[in-house]
Amino acid sequence: MTRTLRIGLVGYAFMGAAHSHAWRTAHRFFDLDVTPEMAILVGRTESKTRAAATRLGWREAETDWRRLIERDDIDVIDICTPGDTHAEIAIAALEAGKHVLCEKPLANSVAEARAMAEAAASAAERGVFAMCGFSYRRTPALALARQFVQEGRIGDIRHVRAQYLQDWLSDADAPLTWRLDRDRAGSGSLGDIGAHSIDAAQFVTGQSVTAVSATLETFVTSRPLGGDLVGLGGVGHADAPRGPVTVDDAALFTARFDNGAIGIFEATRFALGRKNAMRLEVNGSRGSVAFDFEDMNSLQYFDGTDPEGTQGFRRINVTEPVHPYTANWWPTGHGLGYDHLFTNQAADFVRCIVAGEQPRPSFDDALQVQSVLAAVEASAGDESRWSPVARAVATQDTPTQTTSIQTTSTNSTSTNSLSMHSTSMHATPMKDDRP
Ligand SMILES: NC(=O)c1ccc[n+]([C@@H]2O[C@H](COP(=O)([O-])OP(=O)(O)OC[C@H]3O[C@@H](n4cnc5c(N)ncnc54)[C@H](O)[C@@H]3O)[C@@H](O)[C@H]2O)c1
Repeated sequence: MTRTLRIGLVGYAFMGAAHSHAWRTAHRFFDLDVTPEMAILVGRTESKTRAAATRLGWREAETDWRRLIERDDIDVIDICTPGDTHAEIAIAALEAGKHVLCEKPLANSVAEARAMAEAAASAAERGVFAMCGFSYRRTPALALARQFVQEGRIGDIRHVRAQYLQDWLSDADAPLTWRLDRDRAGSGSLGDIGAHSIDAAQFVTGQSVTAVSATLETFVTSRPLGGDLVGLGGVGHADAPRGPVTVDDAALFTARFDNGAIGIFEATRFALGRKNAMRLEVNGSRGSVAFDFEDMNSLQYFDGTDPEGTQGFRRINVTEPVHPYTANWWPTGHGLGYDHLFTNQAADFVRCIVAGEQPRPSFDDALQVQSVLAAVEASAGDESRWSPVARAVATQDTPTQTTSIQTTSTNSTSTNSLSMHSTSMHATPMKDDRP
């Protein structure tokens, strides 16, 4: 008899497909104590949702996320919709006793993110957990970089250099999509891709951003309302009316970390030729690491203690069984791709739920990233003056407890109770020792 964790996923496009792939494969490559069951996919249009459910491998299709949450045969709600929907869905799901995996950025404002973190803290007391999908943490090379920092190989961290460069908005006639609408997306390149850089920088260094000085720019202030979508962008119809772009096209900021390090961040979707250059370099007193997602199976490492004369950056092929996540995949040298991040993420999430542990990044961690985003906007709106990052952690210290989730057996229709022993963590971003 196989115990299952019954998943309901909301949104079936880019992230919906990536998460579907992860739920399909996680238990086939990771030794999980429960098998994710792809139960229900939610969209808004019935015919399109049914077609997506069939294509992506879901048992049922549903057109209202509220009905999904009301069902007692669902254990996990996976939120893959634009940011304006995250808070409402996540809070309702947590209150209904469902574990939640929510895409990033956590919300469209600090107030929403704080409400979500509070709901997550209260749910964690009942053994119900929430995690935010900062998927780049699950890149083996970035997890290895973090390991090097923890092992002391980098020493005292002085510089953090984080860039996230894409080019799909370079064409001024690319169509206006929800990602360019502040009401739906919260912000532009800042929250869309800069948020990943902030989370990755804090994850690798183990340090928090405490203050920022920022500049935001919108290069193209209106775009065609109609067009042919291709990937994230596309080609706008020349004769279509144009609507306003209400978010930033590029975000730059310098930052201070709580250990005295300084950082420089850049996020843009206008860096022609850069497709998904999510880069991070960290320089410390003993060594440096450098990563570029366009070469995602590699980590550049400089060991400052190497003998003089043979020093130099070495390129580590992060595909050895000793590296994070890679033992679950292919033989040495047979690299991973973008989709593997989501499978690694799903496996980490399931393991934590089964163990009754808080998965990371928690909603508290994601609230902290949201606070950095808010500080960037405050600084950019105030002539780049330094703006402090509000410290906002909702989790309470809670006692160890025993909780249960419903699981079904694949060879019967009856439900079983999987008893879990859970300890709620005091989830500050600094205490995370999990990749
Ligand atoms: N982790 C990552 O690397 C990564 C990458 C891209 C996007 N994201 C995040 O994932 C989320 C979704 O982005 P995406 O790129 O998949 O967007 P998308 O436009 O490709 O898909 C959004 C989906 O949400 C559905 N939807 C919208 N409102 C809905 C509602 N009220 N009820 C049900 N379905 C609804 C749409 O029909 C669509 O299926 C965003 O928060 C985004 O920031 C994360």
